[in-house]
Amino acid sequence: MSRTFVRGEGAWLVDATGRRFLDCGAQYGALALGHNAPCVQQAVRAALDAAEPAMVQPYRGLHADALARRLVELAPGHLTHCVFTNSGAETVEAAIKLVRARSGRELILSAHGSFHGKTTGALAVTGQPQYAAGVGPLAPGFGRVPFGDADALEACLAHDGARVAALFLEPIQGERGVIVPPPDYLARARELCTRHGIALVLDEIQTGLGRTGALFACEHEGVAPDLLLIAKALGGGLFPLGACLVADEFWDSGFALRHSSTFANNNVACRVGLAVLEALTTGGLCREAARKGEALLARLVELAARYPEVIAATRGRGLLTAIELHPPGDEAGAFLSFVRHQGLYAYAVAATVAERASVLVLPALGDASVIRVMPPLMIGDDDLERALDGLDAVCARLAENATDVIVRSIGALDAEGVAAEAEPAVVLPPPILPARGTAPSYAFLVHYIDTEHLDAIDPELRGLDPAERARFFRFAAQLPAGVLRRTPTVRSLTGASVDGVILALGMLPDEMARLGARRVGREIERAVDLAASLGVGLVGLGGYTVPYSRRGLGVTGRGPAITTGNALTAGMAFAATLRLAKDRDLALREARVAIVGARGSVGTLCARLFARERPRSLVLVGNPESGGVHLERLRQALARDTGAVSVSSDLAALAGCDIVVSATAAARPVLDEAPLASGTIVCDIARPYDASPRVRARTDLTVIDGGLVALPEPGLSFGTGNLMGLPASVQVACLAETILLALEGEWRDVGVGRDVELAEVDHMLALADRHGFRLAEPIRAAAR
Ligand SMILES: Cc1ncc(COP(=O)(O)O)c(C=O)c1O
Repeated sequence: MSRTFVRGEGAWLVDATGRRFLDCGAQYGALALGHNAPCVQQAVRAALDAAEPAMVQPYRGLHADALARRLVELAPGHLTHCVFTNSGAETVEAAIKLVRARSGRELILSAHGSFHGKTTGALAVTGQPQYAAGVGPLAPGFGRVPFGDADALEACLAHDGARVAALFLEPIQGERGVIVPPPDYLARARELCTRHGIALVLDEIQTGLGRTGALFACEHEGVAPDLLLIAKALGGGLFPLGACLVADEFWDSGFALRHSSTFANNNVACRVGLAVLEALTTGGLCREAARKGEALLARLVELAARYPEVIAATRGRGLLTAIELHPPGDEAGAFLSFVRHQGLYAYAVAATVAERASVLVLPALGDASVIRVMPPLMIGDDDLERALDGLDAVCARLAENATDVIVRSIGALDAEGVAAEAEPAVVLPPPILPARGTAPSYAFLVHYIDTEHLDAIDPELRGLDPAERARFFRFAAQLPAGVLRRTPTVRSLTGASVDGVILALGMLPDEMARLGARRVGREIERAVDLAASLGVGLVGLGGYTVPYSRRGLGVTGRGPAITTGNALTAGMAFAATLRLAKDRDLALREARVAIVGARGSVGTLCARLFARERPRSLVLVGNPESGGVHLERLRQALARDTGAVSVSSDLAALAGCDIVVSATAAARPVLDEAPLASGTIVCDIARPYDASPRVRARTDLTVIDGGLVALPEPGLSFGTGNLMGLPASVQVACLAETILLALEGEWRDVGVGRDVELAEVDHMLALADRHGFRLAEPIRAAAR
């Protein structure tokens, strides 16, 4: 949506490079006659040439008078008064005041899902509470009825009718996604309003002035309102201009004396309004819009039939039409799943249609999976065909490989030179969680582990070449943390069950290093705050979000409890190594053990676990550049349990070891440089791995992935690629720990900070046992 345009001609917009786009959004319907319509330009030129005054309040405007007269003449029913305004929302505000002023009644009804604008009064009428989030409280005296349900309205009015001043309705709910009510709905609403003395206010701000193939959409139903609201197209695509038309019996002279708006009734704007009405009422433009609309809808229906995996439904009337997309489902790859949960799928598709087909379509504000196709009424048949051919071609690409075409179209592969910025490049809207049985009680934060990880969780991006991949990761790293997906329900042996959400930070360890600890740390804070806004009690930190949050310390106290998952990770890695040693008849007492990355939380816990078993020797290997003091302190503490503990910064120390547990945060295969003896058991807990494919391919070593847990239910998957590319029902222990704590309802910080007690490991292993979480079968994936 970051395109800018330098020219507008009819249905076409032109950007600075000269690229032409067919405008099938028409600024939410504000462009009935297209950009820079000749009759609009003529009206303005004539006004300027004649030095006509635009602003003459409090006196009468010549063209304002004429436009008011013409509007009430053209409007259905017996509307007699006109209040000019500068926007749709202001028109709604005027109507709210009028219906209350005249009736003395307070209550105003509108429909669920309706849209009437975003000023505070208009928001109170609007039936989409998400727009009022955080700006309340809204004014009292507003109620809702279901849209399209005349029986519900009848029941509501039977009870409350005497208190109701007005019913506000859109003949078709445009912003919600072009929702057309049943055929007799408006007529019954009319009859009910008349019966109860209630004003029927029809908001035709989007549907009016030819959009649906009649001058006003209510004319299709033969219904006349008491108040009719118009705006958008009235200003000819040039001026902000609206009008609230009112029947005599709902007019109030008190209102007329007290209401004003400085810029309303701009005389030049009103001259344009007259030209618009002239264009709409002579030459058959409305009739043509109806004809073109029928052709448009027929083609959309045909597209839906040909691409059922892309299009869920189509609907509309005249040149107000919508395509309801199939949002990416549970089987979708990570990127589209993220886009969908951030409510951006329709935006991504609209961006794709723009880039691939040079056609601009409009995401619906109120439905994250709907795009509107609503070109200017004057669009030529050829251009309409061209737009539909473009949509057709994009649907074909979406059906084939939606992720690939979207990623290529939204500029995700152009991100080569993006600088490490202090803040993410975009702000994401609040996420949309698909409804499930139970609300999520935990969140788990993940990030990209390495470039191969992408193949597992986003198979549709396998075709990216290495340069494209690099650019994709650059792009993803610029996005704020968001919701990746909902988790499957995990059921414990005890019968308890929990649901969660997976949050994602689109960063590789390399990108984290590039962006720096402050920026990454802030992103992790944002993720935890997002989790808090979703109402979860606990956030599990995955992968490098542990070191980048100072082992969780940087994000405690923000609402949800925090776990690093380190306790169970260390416990399960230890258990996996022990099992393998047993298989080999290798007693731990006899074993020479090395812990690589012993300074880290998991490494430290592993060192403690092994020391407790008093191995023959234990060597703590640490990064020579940091941590010497910590390692020495750890050595001294462990030496109380077991004699032969040493510290080394040299991988040569691994030469004589039987068991090597590796848990560095090096983000590179450090074990490549180690002289591992034949027969060594290597437990690799690090992600990215410490053992490269080359080390894993050695047949004289046994290399297993440590820290993996088998969940109680077989076949359980956390989406495409099962989150970490692991077999179904196997998960990393840090996620398993998060789930266990959620199952127990233990909303406390666990494994946070440097010193994690061994008792915590024992507690986690006991919880795992109680809930049926077992050590996973060893994974010896040489191919990694
Ligand atoms: C039906 C309806 N009413 C009111 C409005 C608000 O108009 P504005 O954005 O000019 O305030 C809109 C805008 O989309 C609308 O579609």
